[in-house]
Amino acid sequence: MEYPFTRKRRLRASQAIRNLSQENNLTVNDLIWPVFVLDGFNRSETIASMPGVQRMSVDVLLDQLTPLHEKGLNAIAIFPVVDDEYKSDDAVEAWNPEGLVQKTVKTIKSALPELVVITDVALDPYTSHGQDGIINEQGDILNDVTIKALVMQALSHAKAGADVVAPSDMMDGRIGSIRDALELKKHHNTAILAYSAKYASVFYGPFRDAVGSAGNLGKSSKASYQMNPANALEAIDEIAMDIAEGADMVMVKPGMPYLDIIKTAKDHFNVPICAYQVSGEYAMLQSAIDNGFLEEQKAVMEALLCFKRAGTDAILTYYADRVTQWLNP
Ligand code: PBG
Repeated sequence: MEYPFTRKRRLRASQAIRNLSQENNLTVNDLIWPVFVLDGFNRSETIASMPGVQRMSVDVLLDQLTPLHEKGLNAIAIFPVVDDEYKSDDAVEAWNPEGLVQKTVKTIKSALPELVVITDVALDPYTSHGQDGIINEQGDILNDVTIKALVMQALSHAKAGADVVAPSDMMDGRIGSIRDALELKKHHNTAILAYSAKYASVFYGPFRDAVGSAGNLGKSSKASYQMNPANALEAIDEIAMDIAEGADMVMVKPGMPYLDIIKTAKDHFNVPICAYQVSGEYAMLQSAIDNGFLEEQKAVMEALLCFKRAGTDAILTYYADRVTQWLNP
């Protein structure tokens, strides 16, 4: 043979034929925007470890959100920035019906009823020690005691009008308890997005700065409940358990260093797979962009398209606001 019979380059010859033969696409329907919410009015703060991301009071957030929602952004995930005076060992503020998250959900749902509002179910914004659960005197995180608190927190979110509650705490058995409680209280349509494969990752560092829990947590780790980054098969068990307990969607977190886990999840399960491009991934990309080492739009779009290729149905990304504008200017 004097010439190559198969020429893969034929389908790469023009933009039009590349478009025709493209396997995966990123659209605004794939995006969930994580937002950091402050109490009060007319407040916005920059975050040193996440340049380009802000903490905002709900009025400022709504000003940004309304045009984004008009351009097709479907969903946000709310993360509260809680003052130290509201933190305690038993995290009771987590289910205060007039708490920051609950008030924020009500305000956003009444202004933008079609927007999907996702809330984080975990105690770390509310514990004085910054762990996701309740601890004993030795500092052990108490699984079953924590579940009782998570159930109350999830119910208070559902009551405030959250469309989706997202337990990110990694306690065993919490999905089943939360589903039971939601059904009993007639929140039949409140969906559960389970952070099923959530790893004990150093890439959450900038987030902990953003919500102000880094100081509370200090040097203690979350490795007794979040997964070991060395493990892949264990993620299959975690996801299977959460689906069996009633999860409607599952999450893999972090994202980009864990694309193999996303692919495994997609191959094994039929529920939507979400992935979180976490704060540390954002910080890495944005630092390179701010230094002029990477082109912003191309770098971000390629990274997000790779999430799609791995099998992600919806991506939590701090770029969701910018990407919505790039896709639908
Ligand atoms: C807390 C929570 C964390 C993130 C989302 N929910 C941090 C943690 O587990 O310590 C991290 C998100 C990010 O890094 O962007 N339950």
